[in-house]
Amino acid sequence: MFKIRDVTIDPPLVLAPVAGHTDSLFRQAVKGLGGCGLVVSELVSTEGLTRRHDRTHHLTRFVEAERPVSMQIFGSDSGRMAESAAMVEAMGADIVDINAGCPVKKVVRQGGGSSLLRDLPLLEKIIKEVRKAVRIPLTLKIRSGWDRSSINAVEVLKVAEDCGVECLAIHGRTRSELFSGRADWEIIAKVKREARIPVIGNGDVFSPGDASRMFRETGVDGVMIGRGALGNPWLIRQCWDHLSARPVAVISLKQKADFMKKFLERVGREAPAPAALGKMKKIGGYLSRGLPQGAGLRARMHGARSIEEFFGAVEAYLADSIPAE
Ligand SMILES: Cc1cc2nc3c(=O)[nH]c(=O)nc-3n(C[C@H](O)[C@H](O)[C@H](O)COP(=O)(O)O)c2cc1C
Repeated sequence: MFKIRDVTIDPPLVLAPVAGHTDSLFRQAVKGLGGCGLVVSELVSTEGLTRRHDRTHHLTRFVEAERPVSMQIFGSDSGRMAESAAMVEAMGADIVDINAGCPVKKVVRQGGGSSLLRDLPLLEKIIKEVRKAVRIPLTLKIRSGWDRSSINAVEVLKVAEDCGVECLAIHGRTRSELFSGRADWEIIAKVKREARIPVIGNGDVFSPGDASRMFRETGVDGVMIGRGALGNPWLIRQCWDHLSARPVAVISLKQKADFMKKFLERVGREAPAPAALGKMKKIGGYLSRGLPQGAGLRARMHGARSIEEFFGAVEAYLADSIPAE
């Protein structure tokens, strides 16, 4: 357990923001499986939010069962960042998080995301204005630096602390590395050693053993898990079992397949209609990893031209390939 001011993060395991995946439905599902102390929204454009674009506003939806919930905003215009932070506070978010880690070209080209790591005066201006605009706790998510020759996470930490950031999450890769190689946990440990605020470590936790090792090797207050939870939504729960010295929950194929079916049905019902089928294909792709004949299922899901056809493929697969318990 740790605290971000008056917000208790218990267990100290965080579902990472993953654009296109960790929407309210997925966050609710992960929370429901247990072990997750904090969820973070997908990155929300402050241009879209302040211009009142429907699609952007949709990203800010959450339900009470997700609390505590952190809303992540991105952009490079300090005025719009501050206005957006006030908006998510008014919507009831428990925490507002500034994205200074996104490596995607479209975001970086406009000066947001990880581009802020190479423009500390702008980062400082944004943090100060956002700080003034909200009362709720303010957090920052970063990468280790822009590239290997400019790793500056400790310097960023100091700027953040001086400007009122109350917790820092760090993914141990530079912007240039994107997702290649292995995350550098040394830099996470270094940031933690230098920090006066809680630090959340992130990068390459794919098993309960990885989570324990990250706590042990870096001393972080919390561990954040992204990609590992997409294909295995039980991962955070399993990490918590392991950290609490309980037997790690074993998930049967039937449980996994049932979860996939129920979750996809919910996405089909609740996601905005034009996007639902595409979203189901993407999520189905992740959730079917590790299932027997999963590649065949993925091909059939992918080829579906309607939601009915999609579920026809899932039903046929469940009947043929998953033994009843
Ligand atoms: C498809 C994808 C989308 C992501 N979207 C976001 C995002 O919206 N905001 C953010 O801060 N990080 C985002 N990330 C980065 C993750 O939050 C996390 O930092 C990264 O995946 C490393 O953690 P992991 O090894 O546990 O996946 C994204 C990562 C992926 C793969």
